[in-house]
Amino acid sequence: MSDHYDDLQQSYGRCLREKNFIERFYEIFLSSHPDIAPMFAETDFQKQRMALRRGISAAISHAAGSSLARRTIDQMADAHSRTGHAPVPPQLYPYWLNSLLQAVSETDPAANPQLIERWRQGMTVVTDTFIKHH
Ligand code: HEM
Repeated sequence: MSDHYDDLQQSYGRCLREKNFIERFYEIFLSSHPDIAPMFAETDFQKQRMALRRGISAAISHAAGSSLARRTIDQMADAHSRTGHAPVPPQLYPYWLNSLLQAVSETDPAANPQLIERWRQGMTVVTDTFIKHH
């Protein structure tokens, strides 16, 4: 049986119902490593929050094996590859992941250690894909 990550889709839905989830993620993420905030110095955060909102949704579908999400994931991987417009050194991905897990733990009223471990498992599929494209 394939894993559809329905538990992540539902958890993500609960997080998005809280208005400040993505904003809170960026607050945690930008202060998680000294190299990260400077990368967003020119960023329009209104647009960026929408982009990440869609990005996480595609990431969950991709982890669940959706071929529809593939194009979106490939575009994001290209943007973050060494020749892309927002290159990301692979060693920074753990900061992204841990920041997301912290934001989910704070925001999803149903968060527990098992669910957070599932988020780690699902999002690692995506960060591994980005790292392979690097
Ligand atoms: C350490 C990890 C990461 C860093 C440092 C990072 C950094 C950035 C930066 C600097 C931008 C460009 C912002 C701008 O246009 O000014 C960007 C865009 C974006 N990122 Fe990330 N990112 C990371 C991980 C991720 C992950 C894991 C995802 C998806 C799940 C993601 C999705 C996106 C999307 C959708 C955009 C906007 C589209 C684009 O500019 O092509 N990022 N990121």
